[in-house]
Amino acid sequence: MDQKITVIRVSPAEVLDLQHIGKATFTETFAWCNTEENLHNYLASNFNTDKLLAQINNPDSEFYFAVSGAEILGYLKVNLAGAQTELQDAISLEIERIYVLNAFQGKKVGQILFDKALQIAKTYGKEYLWLGVWEENTKAIAFYEKNGFVVFDTHEFKLGDEVQTDYLMKKQIY
Ligand SMILES: CC(C)(COP(=O)(O)OP(=O)(O)OC[C@H]1O[C@@H](n2cnc3c(N)ncnc32)[C@H](O)[C@@H]1OP(=O)(O)O)[C@@H](O)C(=O)NCCC(=O)NCCS
Repeated sequence: MDQKITVIRVSPAEVLDLQHIGKATFTETFAWCNTEENLHNYLASNFNTDKLLAQINNPDSEFYFAVSGAEILGYLKVNLAGAQTELQDAISLEIERIYVLNAFQGKKVGQILFDKALQIAKTYGKEYLWLGVWEENTKAIAFYEKNGFVVFDTHEFKLGDEVQTDYLMKKQIY
C-alpha cells in the first residue's frame, strides 16, 4: 500500500470486483465462527452478481471502494430511505457494510470509509447514522464506539441455521 488511499464510488461495471472483495472480507471475518455450509449459502445468496447489480443500481444504496493505486483495500455500503434494512427512517443513513481486508486493517482504511459515510449523511441532511453489528464482533464495536456510536437496541440475525444477536448502534449527527 505505497500510494495514497482514495475512496471511489462503485459503478455497475465493477460488480465483479465488488463481489470479490465482498466475499473475501466476509469470509475473513466470519468463517471461523460459522459452518462451511452456512457461510457458503450466505455468500451465494448475498453476493451473487444479480443481487449486487440490483443494489448498485438502487438509487437509495451507494457502494464505495477504498483503493490504493489499482488495489482494492476495503469497501463501504450505505443505505438511505427504503433501502435501509431496518428502521427505514427518512432522517437516517444505514452503514450496512464496512469491511477492510485483514492485510490492510489498522492503517486507517476503515476510518476513511467511515468518514465517507458521515460526509454522505451530512450531504443528504440526515440526522443520525445507524448500523447492526454482531455482539461478539468486539473489534468492530470498539471501532464504532471510538467513532461515537452507542447501542440502542438488539435484533436477531440468521446466518443459515444459526441465530445470532446483533447490536443496533447509532451516532447522532445533529
Ligand atoms: C472494523 C474495521 C472496519 C476497522 O477498520 P480499520 O481499517 O482496521 O480501522 P482504522 O485503522 O481505520 O482505525 C480507526 C480508528 O479506530 C480504532 N480501532 C480500530 N480497530 C480497533 C480495535 N480493534 N480496538 C480499538 N480501537 C480500534 C483505531 O485505533 C483507530 O483509532 P486511532 O486513530 O485513535 O488509532 C475493520 O477492522 C474491519 O474491516 N473488520 C472486519 C470486518 C467487520 O467486522 N466489519 C464490520 C461488520 S459490522
